[in-house]
Amino acid sequence: MSKQGEIKRITTNTLQSMKQNGEKISMLTAYDFSMARIFDDAGIDVLLVGDSASNVMAGHETTLPITLDHMIYHAQSVIRACQRCLVIVDMPFGSYQGNSKEALISAIRIMKESGAHGVKLEGGEEVCESIKRITGAGVPVMGHLGLTPQSIYKFGTYAVRAKEEEEAEILLHNAKSLQHAGCFSLVLEKIPATLGAEVATQLKIPVIGIGAGMYVDGQVLVMHDMLGITKDFSPRFLRRYLNLYDEITIATKKYIKDIKDKDFPNESEQY
Ligand code: KIV
Repeated sequence: MSKQGEIKRITTNTLQSMKQNGEKISMLTAYDFSMARIFDDAGIDVLLVGDSASNVMAGHETTLPITLDHMIYHAQSVIRACQRCLVIVDMPFGSYQGNSKEALISAIRIMKESGAHGVKLEGGEEVCESIKRITGAGVPVMGHLGLTPQSIYKFGTYAVRAKEEEEAEILLHNAKSLQHAGCFSLVLEKIPATLGAEVATQLKIPVIGIGAGMYVDGQVLVMHDMLGITKDFSPRFLRRYLNLYDEITIATKKYIKDIKDKDFPNESEQY
């Protein structure tokens, strides 16, 4: 809270200070108003409107099918809920890979139409020109290296990335290029903890991990995984804080039973 009792917003500068002060950054994905309101009220630092919406919201096998319009719709819903946290929106597959002009147009659409605070995109050196152009227009950009789900058909598997020395060196080089291009932060997905530590130490910008170990500057999880809504996804890096799949199943079964038994609604639940 500020002196006037207003809620103090998290900015990209706040995240930078958190890294400098050794305070870990908390980040979760969110795709809708109601969940975003809960996370923001609970004090999350960053909400990512992830293109994982393609999987967990729309039921696709990969993140590739989701469109810019879909992402903007999710982002608008999340932004309406948030008073404190920083809201970053994934640029979907096909909205930035063409060239830097297309990337800029897509980023501007996200910012203008959703009111988000920044964008995230996947890739290393090959996206640096786009990052320079987007940040040049005043839009904060978060990078994403390691397991980059938009390139799943290039890699062929969701296995841990950069286990070998050569790939690790390329990742470190790409991380430095992203920082140099102007990224305010970087997500590292599913890489060895030692490499996560190395990148976080060598970069000035905050490094947020998902399966990148304990030495990075913050952690992110997909909300459906963290809350146990997804059932069949159990990578080693995932800590489940609830088992909502089972809890919701029990509640739904009880609701069905109460209706069938003519127990719901009762006298006090009707007009
Ligand atoms: O789309 C997403 O949910 C992400 C996180 C895994 C970081 O990019």
